[in-house]
Amino acid sequence: MKKMILTTGGLGFIGSHTVVDLLNEGYDVCIIDNLSNSHIEVLSYIQQITGKMPKFYQGDVRDNALLEKVFSENDISAVIHFAALKAVAESVVKPLLYYEVNIDGTIAILKAMQKHHVHNIIFSSSATVYGDPKVLPCTEDTPIGEIKNPYGETKLINEMLIKDFVKANEGMHAILLRYFNPIGAHASGLIGEDPKDIPNNLVPYILRVAAKKIDHLTVFGDDYDTPDGSCIRDYIHVCDLAHGHVLAIKKILTIEEPLKIYNLGTGKGTSVLELVNAFKKVNHIDLPYVIGPRRAGDATASYASIDLAQKELGFAPKFSVEDALKDAYHFLIKHEEGSKN
Ligand code: NAD
Ligand code: UFG
Repeated sequence: MKKMILTTGGLGFIGSHTVVDLLNEGYDVCIIDNLSNSHIEVLSYIQQITGKMPKFYQGDVRDNALLEKVFSENDISAVIHFAALKAVAESVVKPLLYYEVNIDGTIAILKAMQKHHVHNIIFSSSATVYGDPKVLPCTEDTPIGEIKNPYGETKLINEMLIKDFVKANEGMHAILLRYFNPIGAHASGLIGEDPKDIPNNLVPYILRVAAKKIDHLTVFGDDYDTPDGSCIRDYIHVCDLAHGHVLAIKKILTIEEPLKIYNLGTGKGTSVLELVNAFKKVNHIDLPYVIGPRRAGDATASYASIDLAQKELGFAPKFSVEDALKDAYHFLIKHEEGSKN
């Protein structure tokens, strides 16, 4: 029998690519999303790509009546909990909102799982929990670092919450996935990263500059202790990241241990300036930028060791940063065309 996977936030950037991969791999999928940072059209794009329509419930993960309906109507094998607010700068000015949505949301999901005897949860955590790591690459045993914003704190609190939950509830299993920097888009150009507000993240910002909606990019600092002075991150194609979730689903459905933690990145660091130059080169366009001051709270360099995910999940990213930047630009062009029609 087909397994039903509930994805919260399944119409968002990482969620939508994961839903596509799950459907292609033969899983049934239902989605809860309140559309606070996504568009309803994504549902039909998922159908265009896969030929299948996931079940969709529009609403908030903190709405207990909605959760009761979703968990009663579906025989759920596992939950992938993506739904959260994720804008670091916004979290600094609206901490209560971030703690409320990101923590109450997880508690509501865990309670529903407990009530309906759903035993498996995969949680979207982040490399942000490593802070500014002293030793690279980051392994899952790298000490938790100093977190400098409420968004990052909510990821750490969620990790602790889920650890305590599986400890207290025999038979429950959780996989915490610590994502590094997802970029890119599906090769169809139909789904990608389309934030509703002005983006904070590097690639969405680059895309706004490429679309001439913003006149230049500011590179936040070129005086770091790195080869070209700009910060280093581990940029992973969102389709590779999405596939990591399918592998994690396979694992969690057969797992013995209550808790596993995996880094999902590529294992390779790329600087901001290298990324900007790669974007220009692969897409044959200019990208005006200026060097600005450092952004408060930025880590100098962060990239993953993915040995554990490779060994235990069979995780092996296929795409390069160049592929991801080409796909991100293709998504932009396709989107621009779409909005003109
Ligand atoms: P996204 O904003 O594109 O997707 C999140 C989705 O959840 C959106 O569709 C949004 O409408 C929905 N949502 C938000 N709050 C909700 C609520 N209360 N109820 C129901 N739906 C709600 O973000 P993303 O980049 O796809 O990130 C997915 C997850 O991965 C998040 O938990 C995020 O914190 C985490 N993460 C993202 C990154 C990244 O760089 N994108 C890195 C590390 C971790
Ligand atoms: N950057 C610029 N200019 C910009 C935007 C970003 O130079 O306009 C630089 C940043 O200084 C940083 C790099 O580009 O050095 C990447 O910045 P992002 O904001 O894209 O990504 P971060 O690594 O800061 O953080 C992201 C997510 C977090 C997540 C973390 C680890 O925003 O939520 O990756 O997964 F926790």
